[in-house]
Amino acid sequence: MTAVETAPTIRDYDPFSQAVMRNPLPFYERLREEAPALYLPKYDTWVFSRFQDVTDLLTIGDNTFIATDTTLPTPEILASHHRGEVSQLPLEPLPIGAMLGSPHFEVLRNAHIKPFRPRAVRSLTEFIQQLADARLDSLLTQQSFDLTQDYAGHVTAGVICHLLDMPAERTADVLELVNSLSRTDPDSGGTDVPTIIGNCIGMMSEYIAKRREAGADGSVPLIDGLLSLAYYGRPLTDAEVATQLTCVFVGGVETVPKITAHGLMELCNAPEQLQEVRADLDTHVPVAVEEMIRFCAPAQWFARTAHKDVEVAGARIRKGQRVMVLFGSAARDPAEYDEPDRFIWNRKIDRVLSFGTGQHYCIGIHLARLELRILVTSFLRRVAKFSFDLERAVRLPSSFQWGWNELPVVVEELS
Ligand code: HEM
Repeated sequence: MTAVETAPTIRDYDPFSQAVMRNPLPFYERLREEAPALYLPKYDTWVFSRFQDVTDLLTIGDNTFIATDTTLPTPEILASHHRGEVSQLPLEPLPIGAMLGSPHFEVLRNAHIKPFRPRAVRSLTEFIQQLADARLDSLLTQQSFDLTQDYAGHVTAGVICHLLDMPAERTADVLELVNSLSRTDPDSGGTDVPTIIGNCIGMMSEYIAKRREAGADGSVPLIDGLLSLAYYGRPLTDAEVATQLTCVFVGGVETVPKITAHGLMELCNAPEQLQEVRADLDTHVPVAVEEMIRFCAPAQWFARTAHKDVEVAGARIRKGQRVMVLFGSAARDPAEYDEPDRFIWNRKIDRVLSFGTGQHYCIGIHLARLELRILVTSFLRRVAKFSFDLERAVRLPSSFQWGWNELPVVVEELS
């Protein structure tokens, strides 16, 4: 452990530094206490770390903040400053809706939100349960397997294949492609993010073209809604439709597996809590899942660009400057949660920011909760005793998705 990790100072804070990417939590504590609205001159960016400030900022409307620099700008993007000159993006070809203000953002989101509405998600229960059961049937023949990828990763990638009308045989390809987003270090053979996103768009485009040919009658609502969109006076191209779906493709596969594995490890580390959850899985797992979402959600931050001058939490943000909201810090804010650094399966949770809030809040919120409940319940039902092999666990340094990329579980006793 370096000196910076044990005693970070605000001066050291750079979201892309190795120290922060290895473990941002000590930095968050200092930020919340000493500089809840911190200005980073190098990036011309404000960083907000307190729960209430993040909530206030994200609920300001009227196109004050638009993610025209993307919601996840790289250090290179942030290093180029707008100096008060900021404009909306051109609409041809249509960029991802997340980078556009109202009304485009809502038009595009509404065109593919149907399969994520509560009733549509509930109708997937049996399908997801079958995927989880089939995965466990095969994995539980081994004594040890990776809970993040081999179990939860395969199930969530299978759901994404289903929603995109892709054959189940492509599940492993989807999982591999999304995972490669976490392996961007060129020294260890990683690929750059734009190339991977291009590959995601390429993979989806094939199935979008098939839906177009088949008539897009609404039976695959995730794709068909975008194919039938009339708002722009022209049909969207296959690549434009696929671009709108990249967040679903990545968000649907990247987050739930890390929370499932980490959440089960927290329960394993607190046997008395695990026993309480086991006492009534159907009632207690949905409660425990809420704490898993608070405590284990891996997305650390998202960004926006100010399109107007505005004041938030005492910070005078100028048009063209960027803001970063630290969801990872908000989840550990003692002003919102008692003993925030402890995992307590049935703690009182009035509000969470793990799914974001305001205009961009997570489109997959209901699906994520359903998947987590099924994955956690099914595992606990079939495995009576388990432990973790932390020597083989992997948590890659990351400015964004900081979570257990691989978490090998050791099955000690089946039920
Ligand atoms: C527990 C699991 C999940 C967590 C913690 C999570 C978290 C988030 C957060 C914080 C945002 C807001 C981004 C922002 O403010 O810029 C977001 C947006 C989004 N999420 Fe999730 N997510 C999860 C699961 C999913 C799933 C299962 C899907 C889809 C299958 C999904 C799809 C999306 C999409 C498409 C957006 C962009 C929404 C928009 O801008 O319209 N997420 N997610």
